[in-house]
Amino acid sequence: MKSKIDNIIQQEEFSKEDLVRLLNADAGERKILYRKAAEIKAEHVGKKVYYRGLIEFSNICGKNCHYCGIRRDNHNLKRYNLGDAEILKAVEFAFKNRYASVVLQSGELESAGFTDRIEKLLREIKKISNDQLGITISLGEQKQEVYKRWFDAGAHRYLLRIETSNPELYKKIHPDDTKHDFNRRIECLKAIKQTGYQTGTGIMVGLPFQTLEDIADDILFMRDFDIDMVGLGPYIEHRDTPMFEYKNLLLLPEERFHLALKVIALLRIIMKDINIAAATALQAIDPVGREKALIAGANVIMPNITPGKYRDSYRLYDNKPCTDEEAEDCTSCLEARIHMAGDEIGYGEWGDSKHFKKRKLPDTGYPE
Ligand code: 5AD
Ligand code: SF4
Ligand code: FES
Repeated sequence: MKSKIDNIIQQEEFSKEDLVRLLNADAGERKILYRKAAEIKAEHVGKKVYYRGLIEFSNICGKNCHYCGIRRDNHNLKRYNLGDAEILKAVEFAFKNRYASVVLQSGELESAGFTDRIEKLLREIKKISNDQLGITISLGEQKQEVYKRWFDAGAHRYLLRIETSNPELYKKIHPDDTKHDFNRRIECLKAIKQTGYQTGTGIMVGLPFQTLEDIADDILFMRDFDIDMVGLGPYIEHRDTPMFEYKNLLLLPEERFHLALKVIALLRIIMKDINIAAATALQAIDPVGREKALIAGANVIMPNITPGKYRDSYRLYDNKPCTDEEAEDCTSCLEARIHMAGDEIGYGEWGDSKHFKKRKLPDTGYPE
């Protein structure tokens, strides 16, 4: 006799109750879920994995999220800000190694100086790569005109995680002030999409106080928002943050890990042709965590190409992997890992979200 989960995953549509049931899948059942996600991945996006060289260019942050190791009030780390020349050197590394895209990420700053600097850098990256490198940015909440300026300067994908779609939970994990406002987060995501970016969001899985119902709602939120890309991983406690005091409320790390994999698998099953990143946080729990995510439906990896000496200072959570390595080390290491997962690497290909190409775009003049 077929188990209940087998029947549920054959459905075309999933209710919140179905999702909760699937998120509850036990060790035997989750294999069925991962297999289904792998089938859909092969059919809708293929077995190619796309690289986005990740440059964490500064850990200076104006915000104070209760979970994050580089929050403003953590004085237990050295702050750094890469010079433009260092950033462009990492960009050249990505270009030479046929990574096809880079991601610029940093702590969150909103200022005229920051906006100008990023705009100039984006134009420079386009110039030195003869317009060939794709650029994703992950620079937090900004005014719509800032999103527009950066888009016009050459960035075409934007990542802004919603973290949780439950406003009450959002309030618990952030300071209660105007800098950490759930509604602004939503408005920013809308502005990003409206500007014409391929729009990515994501959540942390296994947060204290988070229920399976919350996570089911997150999945429905991403479906209804019609996102193009997702980056999600397990929440990992950091000792220098206020949320560390709730560590006794957390699921075991392996449980958080599997829950995150189930969310990846469900998003692949429901949204089919979006891009899903195998986040580094997965590897902080399981040494082959990112490879397992590829098997459960992910198709993007963001190898860290930040110069090695800075990596230790971009510790959003404890046990962050690859902090002792240089970009060259990760390249050869990763290639072997991806082949082990049965995938191949789409060197030199942008690997844009197929979902983005299909959805109706606002008229931005951006060539499709
Ligand atoms: N555990 C896991 N992910 C974290 N992030 C920040 N702090 C943590 C943590 N302790 C994630 C957030 C943020 C992204 C840059 O890193 O989701 O959006
Ligand atoms: Fe800053 Fe982002 Fe960390 Fe929040 S999660 S403190 S915005 S780097
Ligand atoms: Fe960084 Fe293996 S991916 S060392």
